[in-house]
Amino acid sequence: MTTAIIGVGKLGTSVARDLVDGGERVVLAAHDGANATALARELGEPASAASVEKAIGDADVVVFAVWLDTLKDLITQHADLLKGKVVVDPSNPLAQDANGGVVRTLPEGQSSGSVVAGLLPAETHFVKAFGTLGAESLASEANRTPRAVLFYATDDDRAAVAVERLISAAGFDPVKAGGIDAAVRIETSGDLHQFGGLNGRVVDTREARAALATAA
Ligand SMILES: NC(=O)c1ccc[n+]([C@@H]2O[C@H](COP(=O)([O-])OP(=O)(O)OC[C@H]3O[C@@H](n4cnc5c(N)ncnc54)[C@H](OP(=O)(O)O)[C@@H]3O)[C@@H](O)[C@H]2O)c1
Repeated sequence: MTTAIIGVGKLGTSVARDLVDGGERVVLAAHDGANATALARELGEPASAASVEKAIGDADVVVFAVWLDTLKDLITQHADLLKGKVVVDPSNPLAQDANGGVVRTLPEGQSSGSVVAGLLPAETHFVKAFGTLGAESLASEANRTPRAVLFYATDDDRAAVAVERLISAAGFDPVKAGGIDAAVRIETSGDLHQFGGLNGRVVDTREARAALATAA
């Protein structure tokens, strides 16, 4: 299985590093191809770099580690190529402001996952995942004992199988939060997000199941 990671900033770098450490083949792309090439070189086999178009075309799974507004543009540009692929969306409903901070771009209660799902061609296999921890925790908590959890949300069985494999390879335990209607719980300010209801905590499977059982 080949996983394209589009975006090699804070999140994309942590995801790429964890997946390569777990033996997954990744192809990296970014706005500036030199950034993807530099990270692929640093990570070594089985990482490589390509243009966004080639990375998506060559992949079975596409992780969009970009800001939501960029993600919307990339879906529009590459809709045909995405058909038949598993699409992983770690985005939060946030944009960067002029002062280097972040602002919410969707009303409270609306998830970026629901927006992204609505933009994708029907033939894609969509899953919300890899966004429930900050990039630093994704890097530092991989393969700890007991394993830390990454929640995911999907209505698609094929996407669930693929993302469970990737979350496990990355050094975490996968826990399904529900269908796409549960995406709001695992995005920023959601009750299952590290910097939402979990107040900075990184949970194991037992703690995750207890939190999941508590209604938002
Ligand atoms: N950072 C976190 O802790 C964290 C945690 C959970 C979820 N997330 C979510 O992850 C996403 C990325 O966040 P981040 O902090 O990693 O952002 P970031 O550090 O600013 O990285 C953004 C990446 O997007 C790439 N990019 C921009 N325009 C592009 C385009 N047109 N085509 C391809 N790549 C493009 C950039 O390429 P260049 O490298 O060439 O500039 C960069 O690698 C956001 O949706 C965020 O909400 C982040």
